[in-house]
Amino acid sequence: MSAEETKSGAMGSEEMIALCKQHTMYTWTRGDAVDPIPVARAEGVYLYTPEGDRLIDFNSQLMCVNIGHSHPKVLAAMKQQLDRQLLYVYPGTATEPRARLARTLAEIVPNPINTFFFTLGGAEANENAIKAARLFTGRQKILSRYRSYHGATHACMQLTGDPRRWHNEPGPWGFVRVMDPVPYDYSFGATDEEQTRNHLAYLEDLIKMEGPDTIAAMFVEAVTGTNGVLPPPRGWLKGLRVLLRKYGILLICDEVMAGFGRTGKWFAFEHGEIVPDIVTMAKGLTSSYAPLGAMGVSDEIAAHFKKHVFWGGLTYNAHPFSCAAGEAAIRVLQEEKLVERAAQLEPVVLEHMARLKAKHRSVKTYRSIGLFGVLELQKNTAGETLAPFNGSHPAIAEMAKFLRENGLFTFIRWFNVMCNPPLCITEEQLAEGFDIIDRGLEITDAAFEG
Ligand SMILES: Cc1ncc(COP(=O)(O)O)c(C=O)c1O
Repeated sequence: MSAEETKSGAMGSEEMIALCKQHTMYTWTRGDAVDPIPVARAEGVYLYTPEGDRLIDFNSQLMCVNIGHSHPKVLAAMKQQLDRQLLYVYPGTATEPRARLARTLAEIVPNPINTFFFTLGGAEANENAIKAARLFTGRQKILSRYRSYHGATHACMQLTGDPRRWHNEPGPWGFVRVMDPVPYDYSFGATDEEQTRNHLAYLEDLIKMEGPDTIAAMFVEAVTGTNGVLPPPRGWLKGLRVLLRKYGILLICDEVMAGFGRTGKWFAFEHGEIVPDIVTMAKGLTSSYAPLGAMGVSDEIAAHFKKHVFWGGLTYNAHPFSCAAGEAAIRVLQEEKLVERAAQLEPVVLEHMARLKAKHRSVKTYRSIGLFGVLELQKNTAGETLAPFNGSHPAIAEMAKFLRENGLFTFIRWFNVMCNPPLCITEEQLAEGFDIIDRGLEITDAAFEG
């Protein structure tokens, strides 16, 4: 359909795709391999093409549109900010959106985290957390885990464990990556207790080898996101907190993906009954209605930076438009009890997943923590994953195509099929999404080798 044929006279799909491919670069891909979904608008849990075709959003885009698309209250708050004629002032000013959002965050982030530094997104939040940890402790090294993603800037790529780092090496020095308590094929033990105990013992040795006085902080995703929705073994976060404190190492929780209700709690670290020294956030902070990230620091770290310079800055720090969107998006999470809703829908999702596992031999396992869910695919009864680590499989590509052609958007990475819908999704809409996945799994079942 051409531009003239769309109702509003806006650009049609073909023209939109052609121009985007001709004049823009896409992320994490060869330009020739891109096959973008043309999207004209999005509302609730649905995306619409210019021609009006509808897709259910089963991944909240990049696990970020937590309240759902185009919520009228957030749109109204953003319009109001435009009407107030305050869209940009430099970071040294005080503005009402900045004041209000910071106060709201101080209310929802557990004590003693009450002070925030605003950025444009998750990577910038992590970059500034690296700086804050180094400046505060006077130490240099940063620990992180292999099965993690922390952003695409140069330093964050070195923090990141997953293979997206490989092509961005070498990077800045001072980053030491460690195995996860459940690394991949290697095992620290069969039970949560063994994994926690053995992994923390390994980590303590590693800290001694690296030199505790050289380590400023360790970054963790309290529930790991793009590397496969991986919660840590029971007791691990608490043990980690104690271990790091013993050596004066700060704990930084990257809540960019898991925060703002995704796991059924405001922040994923709350499942581990700990509070880190620094928390980083983005995505769900505005439900991605406007670009915004933040680093939250403990009162002790905040007091340090009252007396010492924080050597960091951004032109768009505390951008009024984004801050206004952030406050409104958080109000929606609160008023509509969407965090609680994510927890309530967890058993509904697990029931769908259990049904799919019972029916489809290519489903290896599944999990969902709140509305943070994944189905893992296998190719044989030995449980070998259908695609290898960092690999692909033709049946998975075919299944992804099927899902899209049948009206479902989600993220499929390696052998993981993500199930992370907006937290406002209804039970009927969940059933609609899982029905499409159910049909798609027939394709991967056909690739099962027995
Ligand atoms: C856990 C985590 N940290 C950091 C980032 C980077 O955020 P951004 O893409 O906003 O820079 C992401 C993005 O997916 C993420 O999942």
